[in-house]
Amino acid sequence: MGQGPSGGLNRQGDRKPDGGGDKKEKKFEPAAPPARVGRKQRKQKGPEAAARLPTVTPSTKCKLRLLKLERIKDYLLMEEEFVANQERLKPQEEKAEEDRSKVDDLRGTPMSVGNLEELIDENHAIVSSSVGPEYYVGILSFVDKDQLEPGCSILMHNKVLSVVGILQDEVDPMVSVMKVEKAPLESYADIGGLEAQIQEIKEAVELPLTHPELYEDIGIKPPKGVILYGEPGTGKTLLAKAVANSTSATFLRVVGSELIQKYLGDGPKLVRELFRVADDLSPSIVFIDEIDAVGTKRYDAHSGGEREIQRTMLELLNQLDGFDSRGDVKVILATNRIESLDPALLRPGRIDRKIEFPLPDIKTRRRIFQIHTSKMTLSDDVNLEEFVMTKDEFSGADIKAICTEAGLLALRERRMKVTHPDFKKAKEKVMFKKKEGVPEGLYM
Ligand SMILES: Nc1ncnc2c1ncn2[C@@H]1O[C@H](COP(=O)(O)OP(=O)(O)OP(=O)(O)O)[C@@H](O)[C@H]1O
Ligand SMILES: [Mg+2]
Repeated sequence: MGQGPSGGLNRQGDRKPDGGGDKKEKKFEPAAPPARVGRKQRKQKGPEAAARLPTVTPSTKCKLRLLKLERIKDYLLMEEEFVANQERLKPQEEKAEEDRSKVDDLRGTPMSVGNLEELIDENHAIVSSSVGPEYYVGILSFVDKDQLEPGCSILMHNKVLSVVGILQDEVDPMVSVMKVEKAPLESYADIGGLEAQIQEIKEAVELPLTHPELYEDIGIKPPKGVILYGEPGTGKTLLAKAVANSTSATFLRVVGSELIQKYLGDGPKLVRELFRVADDLSPSIVFIDEIDAVGTKRYDAHSGGEREIQRTMLELLNQLDGFDSRGDVKVILATNRIESLDPALLRPGRIDRKIEFPLPDIKTRRRIFQIHTSKMTLSDDVNLEEFVMTKDEFSGADIKAICTEAGLLALRERRMKVTHPDFKKAKEKVMFKKKEGVPEGLYM
């Protein structure tokens, strides 16, 4: 009967008058919360049993009775609130679901994509579909009118062509490809030497993005970007990859030649789009490799193609200047031939930080050899110092090529270890390819 709930509700009260129940009570002590009450009641049948209130034992009007009754009241209040909440929340979900299915019905499937030409009044507009003719159609009430503006892409009903939705401002698919989603594997640890260059690029590109306040404190504007230049294979692209790997900012990469497009005006548009996306996703870093494809000096261009390339570069200058300040978009350019670039591109205020990548010196060479041989199994006779100390000019890429080549030579003979002669042959081969013809002759 009412025993269960009363036991739960007035436990302390029960203990003194009811000595016999003491043991029983102790057993249940750890599970004090009133939620337990419900389970005991299950033995009783019918809904009215659940609704019944526990009996309150001292039937005379006294303080103890009052306290117990208050407790029951508190419990009931809580219960009431809980039930009310349940009522309030559940129908809403159902209602939303209903509404959604209604909207879906109205929209109909499939839909066609069109262009909004002109808004006539609140509920009507002129639209054009991709096939040609323009139509005067209605706008359904659930379309967000604030976002409608002439020229935007819209979803239209397949038969009556009324406006049923808005397409998000589409980003040029070319640009979305440029976003680096998966960080490259190369990190700063994979770069041999180049400490000064790493330091400089960190200061000019990463620090302004992560700690802009430092520059504000000193009162200078951080540089907009840097240009990396130097001989082929000295690690420019590698360093940019390492930046992309370590930064938390969005990294967009383009190759200069990608900015040259087939149709007039597409190149500059792509540049604009690129910077707009960079701005949307800021803080971000834009890396343009092989900038000489578009950034060469301006001269009297004769062909339309050349002029288009110049216009692309002018758009790039414009974006770098940025009427609207692009505080958290940084630009990294890379090139082999800095002297052929347009001076306007490199003037202070645009890309004024120039970072040179020299051919590696002896110490750096040793480090690069270490990096590239670290995962190889070398036999004991290999003496890399011989190659480190050589007078020949090596770039980082050459060193990598030598190591790869030596590994391949060993593989050809099914050896598991790479030996010194392998390296010698590999070096000769690489130097031979580099000098295009003249064999070294020293190493046989
Ligand atoms: N300092 C270095 N430390 C370790 N590896 C290097 C270093 N420099 C170059 N390499 C190796 O050479 C390869 C080519 O380098 P990278 O692509 O960076 O050249 P680059 O400077 O961009 O040349 P290019 O101007 O022709 O584009 C890299 O993949 C890397 O393995
Ligand atoms: Mg490169």
